[in-house]
Formats: sequence, structure tokens, C-alpha cells
Amino acid sequence: MREGRVIPKSFIQDLLNRLDIVDVIERYLPLKKAGANFVACCPFHNEKSPSFTVSQSKQFYHCFGCGAHGTAIGFVMEHAGMGYVEAIEELAKSIGVAVPQEASNLPQHKVAPDLYDLMQSATRYYREQLKKTPRAIEYLKGRGLSGEVAARFGIGYSPDDWQNLKAAVPNYQDTSLVETGLVIEGEGGKRYDRFRDRIMFPIVNVRGQVIGFGGRVLDKGEPKYLNSPETPLFEKGHELYGLYQAQKSIRAQQRVIVVEGYMDVVALAQHGVEYAVATLGTATTPYHVQKLLRLCDQVVFCFDGDKPGQKAAWRALENALPQLVDGKRIGFLFLPEEHDPDTYIREYGAEAFEHELENSLPLSGYLLRELTAQVDLHTQEGRSALLKNAQPLLTAITAPATALLLRKEVAALAGVTQAELEALYVIKPIAAPQRAAPPKVKRSTPSSLRTLLRCLVMRPELARQLPHDSHTEGVEGAAIAALVDWLSESVDETSTAAMIQHFQDTAHEAVFASAQGEVMQWGESFDVESEFAGSLEKLREESRRAELDTLHAKMQGRDLKVLNEQERARYLQLLQRG
Ligand code: UTP
Ligand code: MN
Repeated sequence: MREGRVIPKSFIQDLLNRLDIVDVIERYLPLKKAGANFVACCPFHNEKSPSFTVSQSKQFYHCFGCGAHGTAIGFVMEHAGMGYVEAIEELAKSIGVAVPQEASNLPQHKVAPDLYDLMQSATRYYREQLKKTPRAIEYLKGRGLSGEVAARFGIGYSPDDWQNLKAAVPNYQDTSLVETGLVIEGEGGKRYDRFRDRIMFPIVNVRGQVIGFGGRVLDKGEPKYLNSPETPLFEKGHELYGLYQAQKSIRAQQRVIVVEGYMDVVALAQHGVEYAVATLGTATTPYHVQKLLRLCDQVVFCFDGDKPGQKAAWRALENALPQLVDGKRIGFLFLPEEHDPDTYIREYGAEAFEHELENSLPLSGYLLRELTAQVDLHTQEGRSALLKNAQPLLTAITAPATALLLRKEVAALAGVTQAELEALYVIKPIAAPQRAAPPKVKRSTPSSLRTLLRCLVMRPELARQLPHDSHTEGVEGAAIAALVDWLSESVDETSTAAMIQHFQDTAHEAVFASAQGEVMQWGESFDVESEFAGSLEKLREESRRAELDTLHAKMQGRDLKVLNEQERARYLQLLQRG
């Protein structure tokens, strides 16, 4: 669904121009004026003094503590755990504008607003039916649920009939009813309800809209749980059951528990552990992990003690690796084999459960435990197998400190050095000693490139004035080149926020982000025009010197004759410019 939707770039630019990031952020947390900027204690990490800074004039935020940064769109995504399109829709709605759609070349599902209405009507109907069905009420009571918690999760009941929903919707023949997955069309066009004689768990998105259902049999029967299919509203790998209800608690506790089942989430909430969510009969996806790590500092996976639970935990680890963030914790809690979170908390209570959480196994410990359990480290074959098995896992980690520590540990276990391990895996070494000797060919000094970058963050359109032959190197050079490309494509007036948004999640994001941080610290007392001209001049001179150095090196103190004709002309030209 999200992939099928393309929002025109010009709209995003326009939206960012119309919003005020200070208003947007203040909907979530109070800001204090501090000089030219606004500050607050950062909502993305724990801190006592405010390092979260918002620039009203440039419309971006930057945290000097944890490095979080972005535009109003990025803030809403991070803070509310929303997707890109969702965040844009939310912001557009807040200022009363409609989000235009561009035809996309991908097959596009039409999300008629009434699909949500149909789900809402069905939810209401199932809840009413629950009230009228003593057998269903008894079932929930038997599982220890109060009416209050059942209401919090909107739990209902679908009666044992083929066309219950006729009573809930205006037109049972409407095609959109099939689109929601609530109704199945059999051979010959005969229609019937998907969910019959089941306890109904509505699946709700972060905006509070019902997008699907899980339905459990009351007695024995197969399948135990029947789920809504993937629909235009419901994408399983993106959604987490209970996230809507848990959001507030997750933020307050700075912790989330990921469990396997609907009943686990509900039972934990019944015992006051309100920060639990469940994957929906699918593996934990990288998207899930990213979404949760944006909301809080600690994610604990707590799967069933049985074999499938162990497998699910390992899958979760694999999918978490690329999303790891240094300083944020991921843990694994393995319950006794006969338990799942629901039965555990009912038997031992919330205190015991939270005590177990405190002692959950850190991701690195779990990873090393599994890797070493598979091999015999006393033999050379075993150690070589360890290196081989660890390779895909270690290379998936991008968080530098975590990667460094794990590489060291695995190397030590295998009896090799970190450098040997990195050479074996052909990966870039971390923390290689910096060479003290000056480079042979002089590069642009970082400082003039960085000044240039800062100017471009203040006024992106200045990049249009860069000379075409300005060859700058390194990550800064690549970022500047990308900026020039972007400007050449966009005809509209541009802004800092539009630029930041454009480079979000690209290879250049980090370079621009650190320049944004510097801009924030400099404040407004900064003459962009003259700094820009100055740094350009310096860069030109540096590049001239570098070229001369190369030619000198070629001549090796001899005369011009060793150069070819073209080089000779260039050499003289460069000398004259000096
Ligand atoms: P479990 O079989 O562990 O069930 O499935 P459970 O959560 O403990 O359920 P209760 O306690 O018996 O009610 C875990 C999760 O796997 C998915 C559901 O999301 C379920 O909550 N599942 C399981 C299905 O989708 N279909 C099934 O038939 C079974
Ligand atoms: Mn269970």
C-alpha cells in the first residue's frame, strides 16, 4: 500500500514551507526559547539538561546529545513511530491541506476512506455481539481478562453464522467488503463472513484505525487463530499488534516487549505491563525493529519457551542486526519451556515478570552463545566454522561500537586478531590507527570544505554557484555533488528543510547532519555570502596547489620536457593563476 503511493516532491517542499516545526514539535513536547533557537530535553534519549535544539528559521531539529536530527516530517516519524507517508498525511491534515497523489508505475491499491469505516462498523458490531454472548464472555473471564482490558483492546465476538455482517454494514454486496478481508467470495459469487464463532481482536494502526482482525476459536479447532489477509489497509510486516494502546507506556518506560501472541499482549496489560506488542503471525522484520527503536531505548523480545519460539528469537536477532543503534539495548528473554508470557504472568505475577526482563540476555550475549554452541572451539575446524558462521551476522551490523566489540570477541574466540578477521571478511576495519604522515597529494583541508557545507545547509541554492570544475573529494565532496544534482532537477524555490528531507536516509545524510549541528551552534551571527565566497576561493586555491603538486611530482625536479604537451600547457596555466 505505502509503496504504491507516490507523493509529489513539490508537495513535500510546499508542506515544509507551510508548516512551522516549532508548532509541530510543541504538539508533543514543550519548547523553550534559547537565543535564536528553541530547546528541550531530548525526547529520543534520556537526559537532564536540554540538548535537543530546534531552528525556527531553518526549520530543522538537531540533538547534540544523541544526534537525532531532521525536519518536521522526520520528527513526527520518529516521535510517533509513523511511516513517511503516514507522517506527511498527519502533518497535511494538521494544517488542513489534502495530500495529492501522483500516478505511480507500481500497481496501486485504491484506499477508499470507507474501508476504514467498514472496519470500524465491524468492530462495533463484534463488540456488541460479545456483550450478548455469555459463552464468549465466560471464555475471556476464564483467561483472566477484565471488562476494562477487553474494552481497551476492543475485543469482540463474531457469532456462529455465515453472514453476520449483513447486520453491521449498509450493503453486504459492496465489493469493498471483500477488499477489507471481512467477507470472502466463494465460487459462484456466494459471499460469507471470514470470521465465525471467534473471539475478535481488532488490529489497530498507530493512528487508532482498525486495519485487520485476529479471530480465536473458543474451543478446540483449526486454525486456532484466523487473521485478516494482507489488504490495502493491512501490511503484516509493518504492523504490530497493541502498539496503538502501548505507545504512551513505551515512551514513559523507554522500553518495549515484543511477544508472539495477541493473548500475550492482552494478558500483560491485564497485569499492568502495558508496554508490550506482538508481531502478527510473521517474523519480526527489520522495519518492526526500526520502528520500535525510534520509540524507545530498549527492546526486549520475549517469545515462547518452545522450539518455534526459539526460532522466532533467532530470526528477530538476524533482522535486528542492521538496525542496531549504539547505546540502545536489545534483549532476549527466554521463559521456561512450558510458558508463554500470558501463562507466566498469570502464574507468577507482574513483579516476577519484570524481574525476568531486567535479567534478559543482551543481544550480543545471545549471539555469542548461539555461535559458540554450534562448534567445538578446541579444534581448528570448530574455530574456522565459527568465523564462517559469524560472518553474515557481524557484517550486517552498522552500529560502530557494537560492531567493534563483537568483532573483537569473535576474533578472540577464534584465536585471530581483529585485523585478521576484518581482512578475512573483506570489511572495512574499525578504529584502524590514523596515519600520522601527511598525505602525498594535498587534499582540500577539511575545514574549508566543512565551511562550504555549512553555507550550503544555510542556503542550499548557493550550490548553483559552484564552478563546474570544482573537484572536491571525500564524503563532503560526494554530498556536495549530490546537492548540485538535486538542485539541477528541482525548479522550485528550495529551502534547508526540503534539502534535509531529500537527503534523509541517503548515504549523504550523516555528512549533512553534522553540518546542520554546526549551523545550529553558530546561530544567525554568520555572514553566509562572504563565508561562501571565502571558502570557494580557498578550495580553488587548494585544488590548484594539489594539481601543481601532482605535476611537480611527475617532473621530479627535472624540467618541463618530461610532461606531455597537454600537461605542460596546464602547468603554465596553473602557475599564472597563482
Ligand atoms: P500460539 O499458538 O503460541 O498461541 O501462537 P497463543 O498466542 O499462545 O494463543 P493462546 O494463548 O492459545 O490464545 C502465537 C501467535 O501466532 C499466531 C497468532 O498471532 C498467535 O497469537 N497464530 C497462531 C496464528 O496466526 N494462527 C494460528 O493458527 C496460531
Ligand atoms: Mn498462549
